[in-house]
Amino acid sequence: MEAASPALSRIGLAGLAVMGQNLALNIAEKGFPISVYNRTTSKVDDTLDRAHREGLLPLTGHYTPRDFVLSLRRPRSIIILVKAGSPVDQTIAALSAHMDSGDTIIDGGNEWYENTERRLLQVADKGILYLGMGVSGGEEGARHGPSLMPGGSYQAYLNIEDIVKKVAAQVEDGPCVTYIGEGGSGNFVKMVHNGIEYGDMQLISEAYDVLKNVGGLSNAELGEIFSDWNRGELESFLIEITADIFRVKDEDGDGELVDKILDKTGMKGTVLLECCLHARAVHGGADDCGLFGLQVGAVRSGIDKKRLIDDVRQALYASKICSYAQGMNLLRAKSVEKGWNLNLGELARIWKGGCIIRAVFLDRIKKAYRRNPNLASLVVDPEFAREMVQRQAAWRRVVGLAISAGISTPGMCASLAYFDTYRRARLPANLVQAQRDLFGAHTYERIDRSGSFHTEWTKLAQKGNNPVAALN
Ligand SMILES: *[C@@H]1O[C@H](CO)[C@@H](O)[C@H](O)[C@H]1NC(C)=O
Repeated sequence: MEAASPALSRIGLAGLAVMGQNLALNIAEKGFPISVYNRTTSKVDDTLDRAHREGLLPLTGHYTPRDFVLSLRRPRSIIILVKAGSPVDQTIAALSAHMDSGDTIIDGGNEWYENTERRLLQVADKGILYLGMGVSGGEEGARHGPSLMPGGSYQAYLNIEDIVKKVAAQVEDGPCVTYIGEGGSGNFVKMVHNGIEYGDMQLISEAYDVLKNVGGLSNAELGEIFSDWNRGELESFLIEITADIFRVKDEDGDGELVDKILDKTGMKGTVLLECCLHARAVHGGADDCGLFGLQVGAVRSGIDKKRLIDDVRQALYASKICSYAQGMNLLRAKSVEKGWNLNLGELARIWKGGCIIRAVFLDRIKKAYRRNPNLASLVVDPEFAREMVQRQAAWRRVVGLAISAGISTPGMCASLAYFDTYRRARLPANLVQAQRDLFGAHTYERIDRSGSFHTEWTKLAQKGNNPVAALN
């Protein structure tokens, strides 16, 4: 084993597209000497140029996998940031040929968690440790402080803990990173995080739709309202940038740019919450509009603007709680299934900075799970439950108004349905159980005694005690 020479780098990073370059510069800036590598040599040169321009950062470029790996201090840690799927396998193959037992590979891409679990076992044959690390925050985050979600080998995490704690976004209760859990948990958590992110964006766009098309608000008014909302319980990165968007004029024409943008949604990243998947799938652009000749926003006249704005704010907040509750419960269900032991309060904490969903509200989620780590759902936490009850009248008014105006609000509707499912003591699933028992002998349970039961429904229905006959 070579001595820890100062010429050797503390960590390596392979894959120098936008995210890779920015993360490498961030690591170097925090004082950790880093080696970088990319098959396309111009990418290495670009990164070296940037490191030079941004203040002689401790970053060295390497042009072959072997030189790159041998430039690292042992035990080696290498972050790879390439496209998910086979490029990851190819990069692992190229690098691991030169690595030793005890070294670590960290995949920082948006990988499907089961692929990470497969690779974890695969490299373990050579004694190599493995992490699948969610990196959130886009270009800006990667460069100045992302939210990091590393899962896999705990020893591998310990090997890079000092680095990730400095590189991650910093908030008042610590760096936005924690060891997530074993296996592919880091990737799974990142995927759900992305689902929550798209859910937030969908809910905000629905609030905008109602305010604009029912309330008849102008972009200038919308900008003011979102700025105002950003000073209260909705304070978050997404609300803040939305306020900015309404203020940008179209440099190539009249009015604001937002009105000139085609309402098309690119399927980027990992979309999760069903409502936004639906909204995206249904409407791919303006091509097939006007098919139904329906004028939306018909109820605009005679609306109390002030009240509508306040109702929409409350509907947005309550919907957001339900959306996060669903995301958190997805994580909890998977955690139980896989034995990951996820700490949901910690996850809320590491999302408070760096990432797109950063919001004041996440601190309250963190506290709800600290109060009760086994919370069945965020909507039954006493504080959140009280807030939802206070807002439900406004929430129902907004959804009702949108429905009668012919404006679809799938996110707000789905959230309200989720809340009502929790709120009601008894759901109509008894009838579904009866139907399944009738046609498939699936059996059912009873509310008044234990055991499984089966009934000859058709035979009994035809036998005399038939309600129609009784009515006559
Ligand atoms: C290097 O750059 C190319 C093109 O930008 C990219 O496709 C490739 O995955 C990168 N990564 C590695 C490890 O070579």
